[in-house]
Amino acid sequence: MNTDKTAIRIAAVDAWEILDSRGNPTVAASCALRNGIRVQAHAPSGASTGTHEAVELRDRDPRRYCGKGVLRAVANVRERIAPAVAGFQVEDQAGVEGAMLALDGTADKSNLGANAILAVSCAVARAAAVARGIPLWRYLAGGRAAKQPLPMTNILSGGLHAGHNMEFQDFLVMPQGIDGYPAQLEAIVAIHRQTRMLLEEAGCVLTGVADEGGWGPHLESNERALAILTAAIERAGYAPGDEVSIALDVAASHFYQDDAYHLRSEKRVLSNAEMVDLLADWAGRYPVRSIEDGLHEDDWAGWKILTDRLGASQQLVGDDFFTTNLARVDRGIREGCANAVLVKMNQIGTLTETFAVIDRAREAGYRAVISARSGETEDSFLADLATASGAGQIKIGSITRSERLAKYNRLLEIDRELQGHA
Ligand code: PGA
Ligand code: ZN
Repeated sequence: MNTDKTAIRIAAVDAWEILDSRGNPTVAASCALRNGIRVQAHAPSGASTGTHEAVELRDRDPRRYCGKGVLRAVANVRERIAPAVAGFQVEDQAGVEGAMLALDGTADKSNLGANAILAVSCAVARAAAVARGIPLWRYLAGGRAAKQPLPMTNILSGGLHAGHNMEFQDFLVMPQGIDGYPAQLEAIVAIHRQTRMLLEEAGCVLTGVADEGGWGPHLESNERALAILTAAIERAGYAPGDEVSIALDVAASHFYQDDAYHLRSEKRVLSNAEMVDLLADWAGRYPVRSIEDGLHEDDWAGWKILTDRLGASQQLVGDDFFTTNLARVDRGIREGCANAVLVKMNQIGTLTETFAVIDRAREAGYRAVISARSGETEDSFLADLATASGAGQIKIGSITRSERLAKYNRLLEIDRELQGHA
């Protein structure tokens, strides 16, 4: 290892436009050190975004990628961020990010763009790990107890990720009763296969997969998806509830209108209390253990009802509800809303703020699920982040499509690194 302090200073930061898993532009950034190390990192991008997320800067030029180009964010890295962070010690993550935040000067990162800031944040952290010659997860962990996360894996998709076939966005499995990540992954793949067979037997025409690689069939109702997934767990040879349970991402903000929840496929329009009744009913009849965004992102009164009713038996995860935002998480903790946080780096835009949310959740007895976005790239950073955080859970999407597998496969490698393999 090179111990010359000047050799681990940032020499240059650069950025360019790449495409994500939906074919939309996103930001790639590189970080070069004075000792010759050069690495890159990519910003992910959501579709079912929360209102309170940091701003993903897009060009809005209709002549390129329907306005979704990110050349302005790229230019912000090259022309503004790069000169401001050059010369920093590469391990001074907070310093580098502080410089970017000062330069941005807004609460929602709308000046430089959270996509620009995050890509640089991740590239800098990765360069520091390479400079030290240790795995990224070990570098990111700092004093935290690193831990292999349990995958929460999408099998059936609805909502914005699958052409609004059903209202609920994700039907996922969690192999929480199976020991060891490789065996958990094998169970998930078996359930994914069995789900396909059950769908075909039910006469569903499967023409492809949804945005996160799960099946996106036209089922007559959300409850039917729960029944099929439970049957798939059984047919794959696992005990529903004991070995493998179900997680839901309701993504309720996206079917909320005029103070009500519009479940078109169930032919019902529900109040928040009635939504809680429905979720409680399904959680009682199917092996559901985790419910994400069961209610609208600003329905604080509803979240209190939900948490009082189901908080003891269910993991209640805030995604659009919290948007990885410390102030919103603090309010949730104060008011007794939810008991877990979905953590998405690009909802907040820096690693320091991401870890602040994870650490605050842990202190308050809230769980954390480290999550990808529906728009991803081949960057596997998230696998290392989840392991480093010790949060114990990761949500990547399904087990098809390489932008997902980059993370699942990196976790297989991390599994070996955690056991001491070089
Ligand atoms: P998004 O969805 O990345 O499209 O926002 C993921 C989720 O809601 O968990
Ligand atoms: Zn979600």
